Amino acid sequence: MNELDRFKEKASSYREALKNQPGARLFELYPILWYLEKHRKAIGKRRDKLRIVDLMSGSGFLSENLYKLGYKDLHAVEFCEEMYKDASVYNSKAKLHFMTSFDYLDGVLDEVKPDVIVTLASFHHLLIYNNDNQVNLDASIDKQSEVVDICMRALPDQGILLIADLIEAGVTETPLELFKSSMAVVARDLVKLGLDKELGELLGQSNSLHGATSLLYRELGTKSGNLSLNWFRTIVDKKTFIGHKDIAISPNFLQRVASYRPVVTKYTCPWVFKERVQLDEFVYKKFAFGVASEHGQILTKDESISCANIHLGIRNDHGVYALGWNLGIVLLGKRDPFSKNQELNVLVASLLAMLTILAGATGLRYWFGFYAPIDFKDILVFILTLPIGIIFGNWITKKKLA
Ligand SMILES: C[S@@+](CC[C@H](N)C(=O)[O-])C[C@H]1O[C@@H](n2cnc3c(N)ncnc32)[C@H](O)[C@@H]1O
Repeated sequence: MNELDRFKEKASSYREALKNQPGARLFELYPILWYLEKHRKAIGKRRDKLRIVDLMSGSGFLSENLYKLGYKDLHAVEFCEEMYKDASVYNSKAKLHFMTSFDYLDGVLDEVKPDVIVTLASFHHLLIYNNDNQVNLDASIDKQSEVVDICMRALPDQGILLIADLIEAGVTETPLELFKSSMAVVARDLVKLGLDKELGELLGQSNSLHGATSLLYRELGTKSGNLSLNWFRTIVDKKTFIGHKDIAISPNFLQRVASYRPVVTKYTCPWVFKERVQLDEFVYKKFAFGVASEHGQILTKDESISCANIHLGIRNDHGVYALGWNLGIVLLGKRDPFSKNQELNVLVASLLAMLTILAGATGLRYWFGFYAPIDFKDILVFILTLPIGIIFGNWITKKKLA
């Protein structure tokens, strides 16, 4: 069964789980919101003007929440009709681009011209199968790299691609984070979206992604290790009729996209619920344990929940029930992400250099009586020549590159 057929089968169960518990997965969003906020500030755009593509958007979990936070220029790309149908987010909040093949992605992105492309919990589904119905690892990684290339081509020089997804245990994290700043804004946003206030205050104490993930692990974490990936491979794939195949973010993939200097962060993102029955229902529906073949189900509801308890872990703390979950986020860009506009720096530097020369000349004139007679007009020409030269230089370069 290919991935889209799998989703076709389980779409209604999956959508129902998310519809009933819209706040359960909110912690998956904090690294995305963290990078988006930094990026929009770096390029000087308001939230409502930042054009974001939500690639493989499913029933619209990411788009819906971004819209609620004021990101209004949203485009969603989805390939499975059963996943997006009835999702109200596509009526007026995010523009849906339905595609039947990745062959059309280039054209659509070229038209949309996004500032940022984000893909959540989907990239591992980009799979190529052999004739014997086994996943072809190399061909799948080729496919994933091709999709990255298509995205990067469509992005402007300063654009970024964010892939938040399952990650292989063997992937090495980027040790140094790109920046530090308070997580308070992201935490407040998550509370606005429905996260419990106490959990928001907790998250708001950190000032980096590494800090946030350690804190969430300490306060709500269940088990160590790569829970989510192991869960899919040992339970969902083997104990549901629909199954689950993946090529999670791997060292080989990261090597293939090395020219975009991937920054990799692994993060804890427990799914949280007010009531235990909500957690049970969510697990059962989201992973489609109840979607039966003509022979019935493989696991009963109680058995599937007991498996979740064993493999993912359930913790009751801070007034919520937390189910262990972890992902990784990969940030890719053509140039250093979040770098400020270099043209402006050159202009400011040239003005500073001139001010220094003028201050030096004034000092020489008054303290040592050393000066060359120049009138106001010469000073004006001196002051204006270099910055105007730089502005024209940049303009001509841009024209030539366009
Ligand atoms: C797990 S869902 C995630 C949806 C959404 N991003 C979210 O976080 O809720 C994965 C999505 O990827 C899409 N998808 C899966 N395999 C695909 C493939 N081979 N080609 C295109 N889309 C695929 C599915 O239709 C589904 O909507």
